[in-house]
Amino acid sequence: MKDTIYVFGNWKMNMTEKETSAYFERFLSSCCVAKRYPDCGCSVVVFPPYTSIPETRNCLERHYQRQRVQCLVEYGAQDVHYAQQGAYTGEISLPMLHELGCTWVLLGHSERRHLFDETDESISQKVCACLDSGIRPVLCFGETLDQRETKKTQEIVTRQITSVLSATENHPERKRLVFAYEPVWAIGTGRAATPGDAEEICGFAAGVLKQNVGYRELTIPFLYGGSVSPANAKELLLQEHISGLLVGGASLKPDAFLEIIDRAMEGNVESSR
Ligand code: 13P
Repeated sequence: MKDTIYVFGNWKMNMTEKETSAYFERFLSSCCVAKRYPDCGCSVVVFPPYTSIPETRNCLERHYQRQRVQCLVEYGAQDVHYAQQGAYTGEISLPMLHELGCTWVLLGHSERRHLFDETDESISQKVCACLDSGIRPVLCFGETLDQRETKKTQEIVTRQITSVLSATENHPERKRLVFAYEPVWAIGTGRAATPGDAEEICGFAAGVLKQNVGYRELTIPFLYGGSVSPANAKELLLQEHISGLLVGGASLKPDAFLEIIDRAMEGNVESSR
């Protein structure tokens, strides 16, 4: 059993402020993450669009005050610029996210890589900037269908990961990094990788980490993302190298997201039997 598992919800460009408020009303009324599996640590993080981050904070703070218990849900942003401030029209900085209470940032999501031409270099710069500022980066990586069919998955995964590992190998906070394997062909298609396939690539990527001196002694969590649903969450968490899930579409429905959290914890608890 893993000490902590991670269930992250990437809302992408969905959820207005009003919708966010309704979402949390439902989600927090049933969210009892720690109660069913008290021995299983579960880190639940939502990634709303920037404009819904303040309402996310309000909802979680109100819940915390009412419940008088530590609320287990954190929140983060879907991207960030690496500079602290300046003439970067349309961008958002780490100090801005910090002030809103964000503790996590997604980086290198395939939609950012493919629709907005993000490069390994700029992604690595962002990862370093996050580590510098105490915000935890989630590095997304994964191959396209064409790359998979031409047997280039390992080459692509190695390239995407190595770029970040080289940039961070001496960073004192590198242990705070999290990786998320998201095969592009599985995102939003309803065609998830099989748990076996996802495990194979996460195991391979963990091996790439171990080849890097700075990461040899560290345990960095790997998440899987791509058409995660209540039906496959448990089986994915039964895999040795999968410590969590990065959920897109299904995280927009509070009940489905809650069920995924439950199933993931069940898988983790069962994996120790
Ligand atoms: P779906 O779960 O909708 O396939 O999206 C996955 C994803 O991109 C999460 O970052």
